[in-house]
Amino acid sequence: MAIRNIREIGDPVLNKSCKTVTEITDRTRQLIDDMFETMYDAEGVGLAAPQVGILKRIVVVDVTGEDPILLINPVIMETSGEQTGNEGCLSVPGKTGVVTRPNYVKVKAYNENMEPFEIEGTELLARAFCHEIEHLDGHLYVEKVEGELMNTESPDFED
Ligand code: NI
Repeated sequence: MAIRNIREIGDPVLNKSCKTVTEITDRTRQLIDDMFETMYDAEGVGLAAPQVGILKRIVVVDVTGEDPILLINPVIMETSGEQTGNEGCLSVPGKTGVVTRPNYVKVKAYNENMEPFEIEGTELLARAFCHEIEHLDGHLYVEKVEGELMNTESPDFED
């Protein structure tokens, strides 16, 4: 396992669309391990592969510190409700902004054995799923911020 360098806003890799994962190789497993380690080290609640410079559709999320979730080729199947709150991103250090997201999302994804599964999330988990999946299509939350991007020492949410 290794901590990887987190790419920051302005790095073109963050604005590219990621490729679908078709097979899990040792290299993919290493990437997944490193993504979890990098996310925990940075105290984020999620991380998407392009944030470590890899253009693959892989996301890791853990909103409690005890519930690691791996999403390979994730797709949002269903959303409902609305939540408006502060959001941050490890690729946009020191900033937060207000973003409105669905309050519930259902995601279809594949696990480390390329078996499909569905997972539901509400509140922070729903926000994290939406935020991370957008990274896979080259989008950052700053595109959606309502009002000004704010400086902050300790955002509620970072990934
Ligand atoms: Ni992010």
